[in-house]
Amino acid sequence: MKAGIINVTGYAGSELARILYRHPEVEVISVTGRSAAGQKLGQVFPHLAALDLDITEELQGNLDIVFSSLPHKASAEAVIPLLKQGIKVVDISADFRLKRAEQYEEWYGVAHPDPSYLEDAVYGLTELHQEEVSAAQLVANPGCFSTSAILALAPAVKLGLIEPDIIIDSKSGVSGAGRGLSMTTHFSEVNENTLAYALGGHRHLPEIAQELSLMTDESLDITFLPHLVPMTRGILSSCYARLRPEQAGEGATASKRVREAYEEFYRDHPFAVVTPQPPQTKQTLGNNQCLIYPTVDHRTGRLIVISCLDNLVKGAAGQAVQNMNLMCQLPQETALESLAVYP
Ligand SMILES: NC(=O)c1ccc[n+]([C@@H]2O[C@H](COP(=O)([O-])OP(=O)(O)OC[C@H]3O[C@@H](n4cnc5c(N)ncnc54)[C@H](OP(=O)(O)O)[C@@H]3O)[C@@H](O)[C@H]2O)c1
Repeated sequence: MKAGIINVTGYAGSELARILYRHPEVEVISVTGRSAAGQKLGQVFPHLAALDLDITEELQGNLDIVFSSLPHKASAEAVIPLLKQGIKVVDISADFRLKRAEQYEEWYGVAHPDPSYLEDAVYGLTELHQEEVSAAQLVANPGCFSTSAILALAPAVKLGLIEPDIIIDSKSGVSGAGRGLSMTTHFSEVNENTLAYALGGHRHLPEIAQELSLMTDESLDITFLPHLVPMTRGILSSCYARLRPEQAGEGATASKRVREAYEEFYRDHPFAVVTPQPPQTKQTLGNNQCLIYPTVDHRTGRLIVISCLDNLVKGAAGQAVQNMNLMCQLPQETALESLAVYP
């Protein structure tokens, strides 16, 4: 298959090129960039020189599938003409994740370029929507925080193990903010510093609520608070909610029931891994896994779930390739089996 990457010069785009280089069924034949158009990919990213591609302003050639890693709004504008030509698209931006155009406008501050695509777009959290992804022309790749939070909470919400009052406390490395320069991501601002941000509401909250609400009839109260920490890649989410003893049991029974429920829920999903110990971001560096550790705080009767992933792999480019594999009827693991980099 012939693939194209729109905006290869961002972090998500360059990570896509790196992963697809080793894909046995896909050849990347066209990559675009704005300010870097006209240069060789290897000039901008020496580690990607082996792809031997020119960065162009527009996509070129006959493409079977296109990934867009543009910022929101620009992304929808770029992919809609491709969808009209029948090309498969995985959009890494937020443009097709929310089902309601008013909600998109409320959170992103712009009108959606074409809401008629929202209904058919499939939210590409592969573990929850595998069948729909396999049949989709347009997949909306989930946000990085959203992936870690939804996978951490989906079994508990679906099985009614917790009260609908949920706290998600997430930490992200700086590459989550992209490659563009800003004061907040400047080395001397980030190094030896930790801060909470978006206390008034982060843009990933509505997609977390949208997806978890599909699993229950109850109305969910979700507090989601992201933090920036001084590392390059990685997200770690700590999620808390009160257990329902009538569903989960108490004491050792609750611990056992919760663990069994999570293991069963993700049994057939190679990239959602229920771990025997609390996971660490470094254990996901460069791989496509979301590591999930559910446990019970017996003093308070709360469920605690720790999850972590690499924001540029399972949180962006790796998940996009996982989705593409399913859209093209390939095994979902193809090109995604690399282990984490350590130390
Ligand atoms: N970073 C992550 O962890 C992550 C995870 C999941 C999803 N995403 C999503 O993936 C998309 C890309 O994110 P990223 O972090 O890879 O971004 P990034 O590294 O910040 O890339 C942004 C670059 O895109 C180019 N650009 C900006 N506006 C453009 C426009 N209107 N048209 C063409 N090019 C434009 C600019 O490059 P030039 O100035 O060189 O033209 C800019 O530096 C975003 O929608 C983001 O929300 C990111």
